[in-house]
Amino acid sequence: MTSFSDLLPLPAASPAYLGLAHRIRGMVMDGRLATGSRLPSERALAETLGLSRTTITRAFAELVDTGWAVARRGSGTTVRLPVADRAPSISLVPTRREDTIDLSAAAGLAPDGTAEIVARALEWLPSTLAGAGYEPYGALHLREQIADRYTARGVPTHPDQIVVTAGALLAVSVALHTLVRPGERLVMDSPSYPGAIESAATVRARAVPVPLEGDWDLTGWTTAVRRARPRAAYLIPDFHNPTGLLMSTDRRQELARILGDADCAPIVDETPAELDFGETEHALPFAAIAPDAVCIGSTSKVLWGGFRIGWLRCPEPLVDAVRATARSLSLGASALDQLVATSYLEDPEPVRAAVADRLRQARGMWRDALAARLPEWRVPSPPGGLGLWVTLPARLSTELALSARSHGITVAPGSTFSPDRTHTNRLRLPLTLPLDVIDEAVERLAAAWETARSGSRSAARMDALAL
Ligand SMILES: Cc1ncc(COP(=O)(O)O)c(C=O)c1O
Repeated sequence: MTSFSDLLPLPAASPAYLGLAHRIRGMVMDGRLATGSRLPSERALAETLGLSRTTITRAFAELVDTGWAVARRGSGTTVRLPVADRAPSISLVPTRREDTIDLSAAAGLAPDGTAEIVARALEWLPSTLAGAGYEPYGALHLREQIADRYTARGVPTHPDQIVVTAGALLAVSVALHTLVRPGERLVMDSPSYPGAIESAATVRARAVPVPLEGDWDLTGWTTAVRRARPRAAYLIPDFHNPTGLLMSTDRRQELARILGDADCAPIVDETPAELDFGETEHALPFAAIAPDAVCIGSTSKVLWGGFRIGWLRCPEPLVDAVRATARSLSLGASALDQLVATSYLEDPEPVRAAVADRLRQARGMWRDALAARLPEWRVPSPPGGLGLWVTLPARLSTELALSARSHGITVAPGSTFSPDRTHTNRLRLPLTLPLDVIDEAVERLAAAWETARSGSRSAARMDALAL
């Protein structure tokens, strides 16, 4: 839950009301206070902070005047982002320039053993070639494999409940097209997976962000669900992208109850679920707790993003609707890629364990190199997943992303992961980077950071002169 007492102490140099407005803006930019949140009443905030009512009134007026809040009679003061401060979106598809280290996408190279997996698929190809090749919901051999995996994890599943798509991003899109009508609300974490944020915009869903900081804030979820009455919720409970967090079984149970009470359909993206570094207790699959959940999976993260195979697992009552949407968007995934996925899923554990081990190693190397070169950056140690959700000591991740290009590096700034373009003091670094490139990447990051910081210092000097 947002703690407004965190607004203290106020910065010493400026009048109290400007300092308070500055601190509230900071909370919004860091994603601790979601845009669209209502501020406490002036009286309540004055009491919480031990400040005069006049200071609070003037701070709120300052936020409204500068476009950071709207005040409506009867519904209080609500924070928002001024249009000019919405950071630009940066594509997360990997670049292929020789001289550039790409940190913007968390996409690994194909692991050892891929050639053997493909060779087995090619042995099966002749029998597939005897058919027309169109399988709009996925080939039965693959749907059976996927269904068996859910059943083994405690979520009994019939192959007809599986719809195979060309990658998990398409599966997210199918789920959103099926469940959410234009103008309806979709509640999601902030930060979250950028592809889902863009898909939500494409179906014209109104994203309702709930700040995710350290762990899922169920009070925040309760408030958002009560206030916004969302049609659906998009969740990544297993090694969340970009934070790497794992939601505990207790929290899953509580969140499933909150969503169930509000008739809000869970869309559970389990794409990173296999990227477990083996250091934490397992959590129950979300669908074992919430049978109405639509689950999404993929082979991209463990095997290779170049095989475009993802899927949805639908609760029975939704199968027809999901199939109809899937068929309207695509005539199905590549038959050859589906054979590769089946071949991989026959015995995925050796590849999975090796990939997870390599990502864990990368976590250690990134942390060591960053501690040595950029000790003021806060670097977490997530229990799994694809990246490190790093905290910078200033809200300069967009500036860093821009200066990075001239230092031979591309990065994904925090705002890319935010439904409301906040998190401008955050950066996601990919654990998928080849291990022997990490030190050089950190050198370039340090140089780009220096450029971003000196740029911001001269911008601040210009602002001071303009005043
Ligand atoms: C949470 C999440 N969902 C979906 C995807 C997209 O996966 P795919 O390559 O299978 O489309 C990603 C890729 O990073 C992801 O992190």
